[in-house]
Amino acid sequence: MNIVILLGAPGSGKGTVAGRLAAEHSNLKHVSSGDLLRGAVAKGTAAGKEAGAYMEAGKLVPDALIATMIKDVVAETTGDVTMLLDGFPRNLAQAKILDEMGAPVTHAVLIDVPDDIIQDRIAGRRTCPKCKAGYHVKNLPPKVDGICDVCGTALTIRKDDNPDTVKDRLVVYHQQTEPLIAYYRDKGILRTVDGTTGVDNVATAFLEAI
Ligand code: AP5
Repeated sequence: MNIVILLGAPGSGKGTVAGRLAAEHSNLKHVSSGDLLRGAVAKGTAAGKEAGAYMEAGKLVPDALIATMIKDVVAETTGDVTMLLDGFPRNLAQAKILDEMGAPVTHAVLIDVPDDIIQDRIAGRRTCPKCKAGYHVKNLPPKVDGICDVCGTALTIRKDDNPDTVKDRLVVYHQQTEPLIAYYRDKGILRTVDGTTGVDNVATAFLEAI
């Protein structure tokens, strides 16, 4: 097993690209820290109860809480698999925790999208609560309005996708997550992909980068 980290602002397309590539390539596994946390919130676990308030406010949950979840997924992933790790690490402390796990990180790919595009991306996002497929009302609409193409479930809007919380999430990204770009550049494993060019192009460029 090896790991490719996805870096990028909220709404830059990390989940869309990783989800698409994992659906098309059986050796790629998409692991999203946000989906793990939303799953814990939905199940009402102790971790979910602790994480919920941070997430609704657009703040990072405590490092130890998310690191425990990621450690479990890393431990259970074996064989000829590339894990597309989306949303973790989110700060330098988490990057060091990942290093200490001994996880073989081969690339960190930055999906680069300017902030002015992010608000529109997130305002139009619709998500399937069942199979996690992602859509956008204009850029990537489902075949039937409001219904998941994959499993037929009614699409929902994430609680943290309101404009005020998105502003806060962008501040957190620039302050806490952006330093990871230099961290992985210094290790010689940073790749950058233009995230503004449409989902097909971004997915192709991502695959070429790794
Ligand atoms: P998380 O779920 O990780 O959210 P995020 O990083 O803010 O990222 P998003 O899921 O919002 O965006 P994305 O880049 O996946 O974009 P998407 O593909 O959907 O985290 C949520 C919360 O959990 C955090 O705020 C925090 O509280 C907590 N958390 C998570 N991880 C944590 C950690 N490690 N430590 C602490 N706390 C943590 O695309 C967005 C939209 O754009 C979609 O509608 C899509 O259809 C559209 N789109 C995508 N690509 C394109 C394209 N190329 N062209 C046009 N439209 C596109």
